Amino acid sequence: MKMIDIKDGPKQVSRIILGCMRMPALSVSDAARMIETASDLGINFFDHATCYGDGEAELRFGEAIKQTSLKREDIFLQSKCGLHFDRKEFDWSKKDILESVDGILQRLQTDYIDALLLHRPDLLYDPEEIAEAFDILEKEGKVKHFGISNVMPLQIELLKKYVKQPLIFNQLQFSLDQSQLIDSALYLNNKTTEYSIDRDNGVLDYCRLHDITVQAWSPLQIGMFKGCFVDHPDFPELNAVLGKLGEKYGVPKTAIAIAWILRHPAKMQAIAGTMNPDHLKDICDATKVDLTHNEWYELYLASGKFLP
Ligand SMILES: NC(=O)c1ccc[n+]([C@@H]2O[C@H](COP(=O)([O-])OP(=O)(O)OC[C@H]3O[C@@H](n4cnc5c(N)ncnc54)[C@H](OP(=O)(O)O)[C@@H]3O)[C@@H](O)[C@H]2O)c1
Repeated sequence: MKMIDIKDGPKQVSRIILGCMRMPALSVSDAARMIETASDLGINFFDHATCYGDGEAELRFGEAIKQTSLKREDIFLQSKCGLHFDRKEFDWSKKDILESVDGILQRLQTDYIDALLLHRPDLLYDPEEIAEAFDILEKEGKVKHFGISNVMPLQIELLKKYVKQPLIFNQLQFSLDQSQLIDSALYLNNKTTEYSIDRDNGVLDYCRLHDITVQAWSPLQIGMFKGCFVDHPDFPELNAVLGKLGEKYGVPKTAIAIAWILRHPAKMQAIAGTMNPDHLKDICDATKVDLTHNEWYELYLASGKFLP
């Protein structure tokens, strides 16, 4: 496993994170096996959110971890709050943040989480309230580090005007299929392609400038939750290159797709959401591969982009 030190944050965390969004589908013993497999592969970082299975993912993890040999201090537990699909609203109010963390700690059966991210933005967010909530959570020792997810540069700047704690992570969608984080820089000012559309106000370079580690979510998904592009018939050219490089490096295609993310100099983490131990082993082979500059471009072009 490749590890990374996070500026103003934890040291030696794994470049691959196990995302637990799909954990509610597992029994407690299968979840324990998944967590143990991840740990054996060198993963020490687990991602949650209050909305994953409406709390079921955190509940399952909290029960399952007791059946493993892992110690609390050896793992990095992250969760996110603010998404309330049940209430049909997003909520970053002080009250909701504080209540959410209490629920997270109860479900995960722990005294603290290592990181709390504000999930997708609440359009009615008040940064002063958020600052107050973060101060309380830090003082009470319930949260060690803070971050955001799917948040644009100016919103981060506004948060930083009030929030004292460093915002160390921004979780964003990024994959060979969903590469809009980088596309607009290449096609700048080009009216002939929609790849030139800046959809996030340059959030990747903003994060690099401000030492915010990007966590790439859904690294293998087509669009938003339409399945995996590896071995999918709609992606013949991409799969041909994934297969060719897989043979060269002696790893599965999924490993090459993840290695493409890890090769980016922003030093992102990739959040793998598989709940299949064999698939996770394949994915972790990504850390054995260092793609060349040219191979990185070959994959990017095979995913349907072109050089302007
Ligand atoms: N911040 C946000 O807004 C946000 C949004 C979405 C997700 N996330 C985070 O990102 C994590 C990952 O999301 P995700 O699960 O959508 O994305 P993913 O890791 O890209 O998984 C996509 C699909 O790939 C499949 N897959 C993996 N390896 C495979 C293989 N070797 N062969 C065939 N299929 C394979 C998985 O199915 P199998 O289970 O069958 O392997 C899974 O259904 C989540 O758990 C969550 O922590 C964050």
